[in-house]
Amino acid sequence: MKARISPRLSRWSAKADLAQSLSGGLLALFLWVHLLLVSSILFGPEAMRFVARNMELAFLDPAGQGYPVVVSLMGLVVLVLVALHAAAALRKFPQNLRQWRALNRQMGQIPNPETRLWRWQVITGFVLFLLLPAHLWMMINQPETIGPEGSAARIWDQRMIWLYLPLLLAVELHAVVGVYRLVMKWCSVTPERRAWLVRLRSLLSLLFIGIGLASLLAFVRYAQLAN
Ligand code: HEM
Repeated sequence: MKARISPRLSRWSAKADLAQSLSGGLLALFLWVHLLLVSSILFGPEAMRFVARNMELAFLDPAGQGYPVVVSLMGLVVLVLVALHAAAALRKFPQNLRQWRALNRQMGQIPNPETRLWRWQVITGFVLFLLLPAHLWMMINQPETIGPEGSAARIWDQRMIWLYLPLLLAVELHAVVGVYRLVMKWCSVTPERRAWLVRLRSLLSLLFIGIGLASLLAFVRYAQLAN
């Protein structure tokens, strides 16, 4: 006998699905703009100083100091979006060992690349759940330290590189795969277009991870030159 789902529950589920897609799309967009802003260090310390000062709206401050609190507020908005996205996603995760075993059994019987991709999303999502709050907490609490000197000291002297390396890998894979799944879910995609999207997904993952790694290396070099 088929289980009946109440109309209220299915309306709620559809809204949660939409919230997950919207918050995920916004976060991916934020992440890629953020990656470009942070990568300004590749053009030298002055370029990153310029970006950091503009993020703090220094051009509105007659004293030219800027308002680091603006960055804290942005961080809080991002934190709310992350919490919303995680809450909407958590409802679909296997809730206990029995459900995990059932999923693994099913994947063994019917190997499906899309299901495998979803399992990767669960794993990278969990890594983000552990690592991202630490980064956001630092950005919200010490926005005035963002800049070539402060960021380089945090990454190298305070050894935050060990947080950023796994965070970078997990977040870029999660975002690219997430956007690919959004396109597959909300757009009608032909098999040829899907093959093209899969290639684009790999290319973008490599590109974003490459830019992130190059930026981290530039910060490390800058910190070592300053010491
Ligand atoms: C308003 C919120 C945020 C601000 C102001 C911010 C700012 C920064 C800055 C300045 C760095 C350079 C290192 C440092 O100074 O510690 C950095 C690195 C990084 N951030 Fe954020 N971030 C924010 C949110 C996020 C979010 C939501 C994610 C992931 C979804 C993220 C992922 C990363 C990663 C992976 C790095 C490693 C460096 C790289 O990209 O090469 N950040 N962030």
